[in-house]
Amino acid sequence: MDEEEEHHKLNGDDNHNHVSKKQKLLQKFITDSEILNEFSHHQSGIARINNGSFGCCPASIIAAQKQWQLKYLQQPDDFYFNHLRKGILESRTVIKNLINADDVDEVSIVDNATTAAAIVLQHIAREFVEGRYQKGDAAVMLHYAYGAVKKSIQAYVTRAGGYVIEAHLPFPVSSNDEIICKFRKALEKGRENGRRVRLAVIDHITSMPSVVVPVKELVKICREEGVDQVFVDAAHAIGNVDINMKDIGADFYTSNLHKWFFCPPSIAFLYCRKRTGFREDVHHPVVSHEYGNGLAIESSWIGTRDYSSQLVVPDVIEFVNRFEGGIDGIRKRNHKVVIEMGEMLAKAWGMKLGCPPDMCSSMVMIGLPSCLGISSEADTLNLRTHLRDKFKIEVPIHFQALKDGENMDNDCGVTGYVRISHQIYNKVDDYYRLRDGINLLIRDGFTCKMLHSN
Ligand SMILES: Cc1ncc(COP(=O)(O)O)c(C=O)c1O
Repeated sequence: MDEEEEHHKLNGDDNHNHVSKKQKLLQKFITDSEILNEFSHHQSGIARINNGSFGCCPASIIAAQKQWQLKYLQQPDDFYFNHLRKGILESRTVIKNLINADDVDEVSIVDNATTAAAIVLQHIAREFVEGRYQKGDAAVMLHYAYGAVKKSIQAYVTRAGGYVIEAHLPFPVSSNDEIICKFRKALEKGRENGRRVRLAVIDHITSMPSVVVPVKELVKICREEGVDQVFVDAAHAIGNVDINMKDIGADFYTSNLHKWFFCPPSIAFLYCRKRTGFREDVHHPVVSHEYGNGLAIESSWIGTRDYSSQLVVPDVIEFVNRFEGGIDGIRKRNHKVVIEMGEMLAKAWGMKLGCPPDMCSSMVMIGLPSCLGISSEADTLNLRTHLRDKFKIEVPIHFQALKDGENMDNDCGVTGYVRISHQIYNKVDDYYRLRDGINLLIRDGFTCKMLHSN
């Protein structure tokens, strides 16, 4: 099978014969060589199977961004008075339609999910500090919430008097019900001693280990249980899973567009559901001229800076529409291929996926053989560096501490999982390199202890 055929197969193209190629040309879908050109700035020789961490940006979008940067530098006054606001509104409108929000005023553009979390959690902190929430009222979050967001909860909610409870999700996990059950338990704990649960922070796709959370069901439970406000951290979601604000029904929902939506760093949207009778008290942490004019307007001027990454969203739509099925087609093919690659690796190493395929996005967790001796977070970092230095593989590794009664020699004692991603620039050889690298380490009797410094 030649490389192009392999690529078509990987991308779920069952009719990869000459007729379908011709049809594709007629439909003017992007070609394989055009995709290569779009990512020719990627350092060559690296098996980059970690799109989840930093995303990617194609050359045509980098060019569009440069145009905006030049427009500003050429005539800043004209840019500021005639183009910036209009451009940001256009991006917000595109996002509003993509996520099925009711109103463009519900959509603000901010730098990243970290900023969005600060906006929501500072709002919650004010509820405590100004006496609308009582000290000791509870907030529930997932144990696998992103580290930076956990710190933010600590900085804003705990310090303001909130009692924070973690829902301990199981991993490996085999069904949504397991997650729902643990989440219900955390809410029950939140309500103990007559406490009110004021906030739930729910990931849509957890980062490490990566699992798609049944967010719609969890939001529904929060509503039934009287949780005041629900914030969904969906940093990985847009371009990766189907998202629909009306369907999910959260109060706040954020996603980065620089991870799976081909935008340059950095841009995220923060959706704030319009609620009748709700006191609009959500503000950007960087206060500037527009303070008090609504979050979307506040966020569109937070002082002099480069806004170009926020202005290329319409160009990204043009880019993804060069692919069959647009962004939905891209994410569905990414999902299909990453599952194939995950299963190939699991088979090669005699291991299992961390969750069933329907709980994976375009990222998959695969158990690593216990003979590698992964016994701490430090080991996963050392091994990740070793894979980069020795084999030129970029892949993050999750440490899973053993539960009572498990040991590293039996089947359930898996302590390390790789998280692989698939994005349109990936090739099957990227995953073969990971397979062969790990197999080589095992053959040579490698263990993580060998990387411990004395
Ligand atoms: C679940 C989750 N939340 C928040 C973030 C933070 O994203 P950013 O660094 O772009 O602010 C990440 C980043 O990977 C994430 O995975």
